[in-house]
Amino acid sequence: MGRITLKKVQKSFGSTEVIPPLDLEINDGEFVVFVGPSGCGKSTLLRLIAGLEDTSGGTIEIDGVDATGLPPAKRSLAMVFQSYALYPHMSVRKNIAFPMKMAGLPKAEQEKRISQAAAALNLTDYLDRRPGQLSGGQRQRVAIGRAIVREPSAFLFDEPLSNLDAALRVGMRLEISELHKRLDTTMVYVTHDQVEAMTMADKIVVLQAGVIEQVGSPLDLYHTPRNKFVAGFIGSPRMNLIEGAEAAKHNVTTIGIRPEHIAVSGESGDWKGVVGVSEHLGSDTFFHVKIDGFAEPITVRAGGNVDLHYGDTIYLTPQADLIHKFDGGGLRV
Ligand SMILES: Nc1ncnc2c1ncn2[C@@H]1O[C@H](COP(=O)(O)OP(=O)(O)O)[C@@H](O)[C@H]1O
Ligand SMILES: [Mg+2]
Repeated sequence: MGRITLKKVQKSFGSTEVIPPLDLEINDGEFVVFVGPSGCGKSTLLRLIAGLEDTSGGTIEIDGVDATGLPPAKRSLAMVFQSYALYPHMSVRKNIAFPMKMAGLPKAEQEKRISQAAAALNLTDYLDRRPGQLSGGQRQRVAIGRAIVREPSAFLFDEPLSNLDAALRVGMRLEISELHKRLDTTMVYVTHDQVEAMTMADKIVVLQAGVIEQVGSPLDLYHTPRNKFVAGFIGSPRMNLIEGAEAAKHNVTTIGIRPEHIAVSGESGDWKGVVGVSEHLGSDTFFHVKIDGFAEPITVRAGGNVDLHYGDTIYLTPQADLIHKFDGGGLRV
């Protein structure tokens, strides 16, 4: 259980269409990530699925049943809000119990589900604390616990990690992925962070201005982005996109090459340039290289100990079979 099908789903606020009609299939048990820049409609799409917004057109099916007109409580979906949505004056136990209390579940059943959720989330020893006595990561787990006890057919997450610090975000990312493997329940997860999308998703849905630019696995999107937008959005540092004479040699409008697919040499190569700013990460170095005739510097990933400095001459050679080509409309050719 947990298959969600969107057919020609459309949303306008007043006269502004924020989501033109779109189709999407979310399979049972899948971890699907909606990713795209701020304002592209990710939250709106998730809220349409949850029933927190009414659709302006189209249908939403959950497990084969038309749910378009159903209120949120009848959709068997659980929205996981950011951790600050916890009740500060209630214990962890009471926070987790809250939706079950509202639904009028028998006390014994509530206790059973609280124990199971607490065990799954490593919260057993914290049930009598209040949210203020927990770390950010633990609070996030309580928010998830409150969703788990409803035994939904899918979990919906809207940027749940965006107000956590960087180290905690990485930890929680792994915890949510781990939880997904254990629960084997559909998860739909919204983020503007392509690294979160790449590391967590079975299937990524890339959105721009309410339009699905591409749907695919992380590696599908990395290896075969279907247009320039996806090419530039997925991957870090971003793909170099080059127009003009260099692209014309390949008979296209734009060529793209990822920083990790360019060989670096101090002596010879296809493109001769000058080293600009470099970023030393220890494991890798990112050089930003200025090349005559190129509109923008090329970013290239080299080893951590490559001995090249600001102002040095550098030669770059893109790996020929990993050059992406795009036409005048920005589509992959
Ligand atoms: N209740 C609303 N009324 C009017 N416009 C809205 C409302 N909610 C969202 N929007 C607009 O819809 C677009 C998509 O918003 P949203 O789904 O929140 O984007 P995202 O989550 O990708 O940042 C934005 O242009 C936003 O201003
Ligand atoms: Mg949003």
